[in-house]
Amino acid sequence: MYKNAYISAVAHYVPEKVLTNFDLEKMVDTSGEWIRTRTGIKERRILEDGKATSDMAAEAVKNICKLRGIDPMEIEGIIVATVTPDMFFPSTGNLVQEKSGAKNAWSFDVAAACSGFLYALSIGTQYIKAGTHSKIVVVGADKMSAITNYRDRNTCVLFGDAAGAVLLEPTDDEQIGLIDFMLFSDGSGAEYLKLKAGGSLYPASLETVANDWHFIYQDGKYVFKFAVSKMAEVAVNIIEKHGYSGKDLKLFVPHQANLRIIDATVKRLGIDYDKVMINIEKFGNTTAATIPLALSEAWEQGKLNKNDLVLFATFGGGFTWGSTLLRWAYDK
Ligand code: ACO
Repeated sequence: MYKNAYISAVAHYVPEKVLTNFDLEKMVDTSGEWIRTRTGIKERRILEDGKATSDMAAEAVKNICKLRGIDPMEIEGIIVATVTPDMFFPSTGNLVQEKSGAKNAWSFDVAAACSGFLYALSIGTQYIKAGTHSKIVVVGADKMSAITNYRDRNTCVLFGDAAGAVLLEPTDDEQIGLIDFMLFSDGSGAEYLKLKAGGSLYPASLETVANDWHFIYQDGKYVFKFAVSKMAEVAVNIIEKHGYSGKDLKLFVPHQANLRIIDATVKRLGIDYDKVMINIEKFGNTTAATIPLALSEAWEQGKLNKNDLVLFATFGGGFTWGSTLLRWAYDK
């Protein structure tokens, strides 16, 4: 029998501590006005010392279980998208499995920077469609503050910490669920957005630390140009492939890296702004967490109803980019 995957619950976790543009004015040579007008960001959340990505992700998973009314022991698999794992190994997924009490689940990580959540969602969807699994949790979580240089004004204003998660389940209803994924990579973009050291090429050394190679490096201008063109292109391509136009969309949930990148995509799609979920002003760029976090807030705000056509689009380090089209499955 035909089985599709659908999102049966969405939840998130954000740390309590808020870092405002005003706070950053005291740390680097910047202004709240510059940050707001160039990026759309007003504040971001920062996880406390001693806590890691898995702590936020586990909270998001526990919230999912509460919302769906299931025991964590019912979860069969956990896929965590992150570029800020607690450590190289074990995977953050393994740590989330333990901390959330999902003791029956297998678990692993996916690394595709800001596109990680859509890559992980595509993987989770295949397990459901294959008919071998009936409850897969897909998490996007990043503690970006752990790899952000708070002496570098080019990057420190952009990023924040958060986790978001969705539960995937099977359905016989052909009208709802995940419709399609379009995912892309271009490894020639690797040099423009990266964390240079700490891997097998440049293991941690006095030199790598002295050179700040354990922090995010980004050529913002180059990344911006690529992101504007690719995110808009993939968003338009997936809806046209399925015979839709921007007018058919009920909600567009874009990756939240820069409000101007979102603006450009919205213009290309030709959709009204009230159909676009934006929360970058509160959280900044939380990398793999932006889409599930924005989706979760959209759900809480009553912006999602059964049969709504929903579009996700993203762009990130790698370069990686992609889009996902789905029909939302349930009313609030
Ligand atoms: N405050 C004040 N001035 C600043 C700041 C700051 N925080 N940061 C940079 N500037 C200065 C620059 O030094 C530059 O000064 P100069 O002209 O004297 O050299 C000037 O502002 C303009 O800099 P630009 O880089 O041209 O600014 P731009 O408008 O491109 O905005 C930004 C920079 C916000 C980083 C933008 O390029 C951007 O958003 N890039 C894409 C980010 C992104 O999408 N990343 C992908 C996802 S991230 C991931 O996958 C992990």
